[in-house]
Amino acid sequence: MHSFHYENGALHCESISLDALAQEHGTPLYIYSKSTILDHFRRLSASMSELDCRICYATKANSNLAVLNLLAQEGAGFDIVSGGELFRIEKAGGDPGLCTFAGVGKTREEIELGLRKGIYSFNAESEAEVAFIDKVAGELGMKAPVALRVNPNVDAKTHKYISTGKSENKFGIDFETICEAYARAAALPNVEIRGLQMHIGSQLTSVKPFVEAVEKVAPLVQELKEEYGIEFFSIGGGIGIVYENTLASGQSSWWQDQEEKPLTIEEYADQLVPLLKPLGLKIILEPGRFMVGNAGALITEVLYEKKGSAKTFKIVDAGMNDLIRPALYEGHHDIVPLAEASGDAQETVDIVGPVCESGDFFAQNIELPELAEGDRIALLSSGAYGFVMASNYNSRPLPAEILVDGDQAHVIRQRQTFDDLIAGEQILS
Ligand code: LLP
Repeated sequence: MHSFHYENGALHCESISLDALAQEHGTPLYIYSKSTILDHFRRLSASMSELDCRICYATKANSNLAVLNLLAQEGAGFDIVSGGELFRIEKAGGDPGLCTFAGVGKTREEIELGLRKGIYSFNAESEAEVAFIDKVAGELGMKAPVALRVNPNVDAKTHKYISTGKSENKFGIDFETICEAYARAAALPNVEIRGLQMHIGSQLTSVKPFVEAVEKVAPLVQELKEEYGIEFFSIGGGIGIVYENTLASGQSSWWQDQEEKPLTIEEYADQLVPLLKPLGLKIILEPGRFMVGNAGALITEVLYEKKGSAKTFKIVDAGMNDLIRPALYEGHHDIVPLAEASGDAQETVDIVGPVCESGDFFAQNIELPELAEGDRIALLSSGAYGFVMASNYNSRPLPAEILVDGDQAHVIRQRQTFDDLIAGEQILS
């Protein structure tokens, strides 16, 4: 479920009117629903209750301290990819002992930090990295818990920029050579083999590739369990969410795959739990988008209308620097007015931002209710990979973030100021 809906003609998040929030805090503005995040975490946990399962939330999807703190309080672990994320986890009250540390390019500083903080496992992506982790651990007189990431060469059937489980992707170690990689890793003096990890891609809208990957890798998991006594198998993240007709469906985890059943959490669990249970290991999931994607919206205001010879543009005050998904992945975000349309009148428009790039658009040639200057709209399903990918391009301050909890709204990140923009910069003396 998600918590965005119209009430008396005004778009609400939980019990709060988004227009009221925009008026108070300005736009562009990110809004998140606490109850949606909790619902997603709890439903996924419940669906895995037959397994010894740990959810390691993929921090990169939305790393605001308040969001991390919510999940930490639910007992979540965290999948991290940088020293900065580990720093955030600690600040948010998360337990480093429940963290897996992924990423193809961990630095010495990051490995040292992970070891000192006692993370649960490094998920190593190459043999060179394992050798380096061994070296750094040796220098600290420590043993490093390590899992290797296998690349199962399975097609996740998602956008090419977020597909990771094919041989041509930079991620993981080839399925064909992973056994030798384990043998060499196990022989290193400062490494303790702890598990196996995989992640085939993001925004998967069918359960089929997950099933294919788990079926392919399960015999390897058994072998590693017998040989090295591994204690966990992480199947990564990647659960897709609804980006289209989000309001109408009222759903988060729902996707009508052409010939297949929809991907719901129930379907995901029904198909995967029977394959995972016989392994008798701790199963780790690393969902990011599923937890927070539909829990967030980006609110923006129409600044101007511009009627060209070919098109009508609505120029809004949010830009690609605030939400880059449409520009980078051709990502779709439903656009809805904060004030529910009263009539049927529609117009065909492009919704574009103020950034000096032709790629700075949120939608092209879409039918929307008529919007006047000063009207506000919401870009839905922006809770994952929204704010975290925002930048200061065009020297635009980062938007504020609000967490709604019932009828309370909390500012969980203040809007940046102009002074924030130049913090740390120096003119030559
Ligand atoms: N585990 C690993 C190793 C990952 O690389 C990722 C995401 C996840 C878990 C979480 O995947 P999720 O459950 O969120 O699909 N910026 C892109 C998505 C990039 C995903 C990167 N890795 C987007 O906006 O679509």
